[in-house]
Amino acid sequence: MQNQKRLQLLLFGITFVFHSFFFGFIENANTIQAATVIKNLRVEYMKNPIGIDVANPRFSWEIESDVTGMKQNACEIILSYDESGSDVVWDSGIMQSGQSIGITYGGTALSPSTRYYWTVNIWDKDNIKITSPEKAFFETGLLSSGWSDAQWLKIKENSDLMALQSAAQGIPMFRSEFSLTKALKSARIYASALGIYDLFLNGQRVGTRQADGTTVYDEMKPGWTDYRKTVFYSTYDITELIVNGVNAVGAEVSSGWFTGNIAHNEYGQHPLAFKAKILLEYTDGTKETLVTNTSGWKATINSPIRMADIYDGETYDARKESEWIIAGFDDSQWQETEINDYFTGDILAFVGQPVRVRRELEQTPQTITIYNGITPDGTTYGNINVVRTLGDGPFTLAKGETAIVDFGQNFVGWINFKVTGKQGTRLTARFAEMLNDSGKENRGNDNAKGTLYLRNLRSAKATLRYTLKGGEQGETFSPSMTYFGFRYCEISATDDLALEYLRGDVVGNANEENSTFVTDNESVNKLYNNVVWGQRGNILSVPTDCPQRDERLGWMGDTQIFSHAAAYNADVASFFHKWAKDVRDSQQPDGTYPSVVPDNWNVGYGRTAWAEAGIIVPWNIYLMYGDRQLLSEQYASMEKFMDWMATRQFDGYLYNGGDTQYGDWLSYEHTDPRFISVCYYAYAAQLMEKISSALSQSSNDVYAQNAAKYRTLYNNIKTEFQRRYTDSRTNALTVTSQTAYLLALKNDLLFDSAATQEALAALINKIRNNGNKLSTGFVGTGILNQTLSEFYADSTAYDLLLQRENPSWLYSVDQGATTIWERWNSYTIDAGFGDASMNSFNHYSYGAVSEWMFRFMAGIEADENNPGFKHFVLQPRPDTRNVPDDNKIKTVSAEYGSYYGKIKSGWERKDDGNYRYTITVPANTSATLYLLKCNVATRVTQNGVEAKKVKGVISFTDEKNRFVLELESGTYVFDTQNAPK
Ligand code: BGC
Repeated sequence: MQNQKRLQLLLFGITFVFHSFFFGFIENANTIQAATVIKNLRVEYMKNPIGIDVANPRFSWEIESDVTGMKQNACEIILSYDESGSDVVWDSGIMQSGQSIGITYGGTALSPSTRYYWTVNIWDKDNIKITSPEKAFFETGLLSSGWSDAQWLKIKENSDLMALQSAAQGIPMFRSEFSLTKALKSARIYASALGIYDLFLNGQRVGTRQADGTTVYDEMKPGWTDYRKTVFYSTYDITELIVNGVNAVGAEVSSGWFTGNIAHNEYGQHPLAFKAKILLEYTDGTKETLVTNTSGWKATINSPIRMADIYDGETYDARKESEWIIAGFDDSQWQETEINDYFTGDILAFVGQPVRVRRELEQTPQTITIYNGITPDGTTYGNINVVRTLGDGPFTLAKGETAIVDFGQNFVGWINFKVTGKQGTRLTARFAEMLNDSGKENRGNDNAKGTLYLRNLRSAKATLRYTLKGGEQGETFSPSMTYFGFRYCEISATDDLALEYLRGDVVGNANEENSTFVTDNESVNKLYNNVVWGQRGNILSVPTDCPQRDERLGWMGDTQIFSHAAAYNADVASFFHKWAKDVRDSQQPDGTYPSVVPDNWNVGYGRTAWAEAGIIVPWNIYLMYGDRQLLSEQYASMEKFMDWMATRQFDGYLYNGGDTQYGDWLSYEHTDPRFISVCYYAYAAQLMEKISSALSQSSNDVYAQNAAKYRTLYNNIKTEFQRRYTDSRTNALTVTSQTAYLLALKNDLLFDSAATQEALAALINKIRNNGNKLSTGFVGTGILNQTLSEFYADSTAYDLLLQRENPSWLYSVDQGATTIWERWNSYTIDAGFGDASMNSFNHYSYGAVSEWMFRFMAGIEADENNPGFKHFVLQPRPDTRNVPDDNKIKTVSAEYGSYYGKIKSGWERKDDGNYRYTITVPANTSATLYLLKCNVATRVTQNGVEAKKVKGVISFTDEKNRFVLELESGTYVFDTQNAPK
């Protein structure tokens, strides 16, 4: 006892000394460290990218500072061939500019396949020079150097069968060997495929080495583009994988988006193909190029991946594994290759964050239920016989038993596991978003209670089959050529198995998530969390509608509705840059945009609220990231679309807008679809005016002229709209659904401010009379709360947010949602499953409400005259409704990861009814803060000091209903008070 006490004391002493030393040290370090640092150096939105094909890449950096009012007065970028910076390629010179994002390279033409190091100096507000401690780099791709006669290879025999993917044969694998003749300095591989490919070298999977020494792998490469026009290639540094002597290189290719079921035969049934170029640089300065060609490469379909399809899953036979990517492997049984001449488009460097397994989001089973057979219980399908229930952990599965694994979260990706069992045992995994809740057909169940609910997958088989090679050491596996949308996974096997572990891998574009949103209301927090999970699951190479059923397509309506929210939740700048090219590729000769991009499934062109995504999304990306280049790249295409809209004169009207098939998709209240198309035409014309103005450099250039042209167009649409849809005596709208009011208000289509206020009042009344419930579909819901708050109807927006009945956001949360659903009632505890013909449990459109959460609840809003958050608006709108406290939001705290750094905005309702606002304006930005006079506030203070005297507040205006503060960068805690001064 005594000894134990002494030991405790001793440990306490050591901890104390360690703590004081350690924290003392940190404190010292802080005091001597510069208070302003440059960080997050990026090129084309990426940190240290390899293989970019941009002639004049754009640079950006972030300035972090604890000095109020810190900003950049001038900057200088220095590009060099060497890391030490002595072999200078380009010195921008000192640029008197505060710009720290999107600065374009201005040196001589960059060389292909070359690494450039770069650094940045800035001169701060006091003209003190600060140098980036980080030495960043980027590496060009092939640029104009081309593919050096690299061929698209296909397997020679049975090639026509490749695309059919029958279970009797595997997917094609390609291999070659090469020898090093001299000492190697560096090596790169540039690779692409028609289909999805995976790349191997000397027995290892090719990936990207991280700074911490680990390797990460790109998945589902090269991603989905319009294969008639564009395919991507990726670049990998393979220096460390190459050995002296003979090396083996190989690739597996599956049908993916090229010829798999998801392609809906869009590109025809062509053989899968692979193409690569290896660039070796020797220490003596010489270079060697190796390429895919029919003489040096062989292929086989005798591969372990027997079948792979995005909808249907993957079949893998581990008994067929071989040493095919080891040098010296006997490939005499392999077949010859031939040239695949299908593809004649552009092979471009991959753009954006690759699709990856997002390790930080790995899912573990919450429960594992093992059952054996089904017992009739008077319901249609009966109930499972539960044998045992486990938490996470190893488990065994006897032949005849089935495990139902619940990960607790609906997500997108696949499983990885370690299994032990006899050779030839087949493990089958199926995936579902929901479990059957009762075995009752009249509740929409498709099988016994506790089994997977599969009906909403429609024809997608979403099945993983793995045949064991056997052995006591166990075997690990995860698929790589398919993906599933699931929360539950069912495992069964043809013989006894032991699973050491089973994990859920979250797969999607690895867009950085630097934003958070938290309130004091757990249901609202859950809702936000569900939105983020919906985004993670539906941004996988393309922005998809859903990730589980036989669809998973880039529906443009869903994309535009959610795009602004998406840009608040994560960094989607490069993702939408890639998408914009897909849109241009899929545009029709008549100017129409398809309903899904890449064009697929023959779902029509020029359809209202879907097609206009080609204009709306680039505008949103411009607002959020200040990306003018995206607007200018897209401009001709947008004009072409507008030209098509201009041809749509019929029914006695000049301005009809696009086609009307989808209307206010899935709404609870009908809105005349032609009314919607006219409003969207006005919306597009308004955006075209803004986009033209943003691109204009002088008052009479073509963009300025176009801006005027689109303003006139908008005015004309508005005039005809009023003739068509308002009462000539009262100016009131004649189409009176919630969505109709929202569209007219958002697009400023009413006669005057009186008519506008009347429409707003009518909308608020309609919502009230509907029991504070929405009746809107995709079109209306996408703008619902945003539009209400644009007109200061925040209380109605809060009523809708906190509504718990059907339809409402929290209704789905209360029914158990862990993502956003396609329908508010996709599943209800009362009635079971909704219409299975279209019932996705991971459909992000209604998650557009998170745009409102950031823009109005927290109040972080881009300034369209100064996009990308160089200057921005803070307009927090507290919940001031006169409702019981437990139904009221009392605190909000949000962080938005802008390219200038973290913007923070939060508020708290204090016990005395006054509000406290906590705000961070990042260095090198400024903000206009609008504080409403909630609780009849008369003053704004920080620590008791009047706001106008607070450091960083450059102006303070006391307006009728609000205070307006111009803020320099810094952190502020403001209190509004209704006490007299
Ligand atoms: C998709 C939707 C899409 C719609 C268009 C559905 O099948 O899942 O999200 O926008 O079709 O009508």
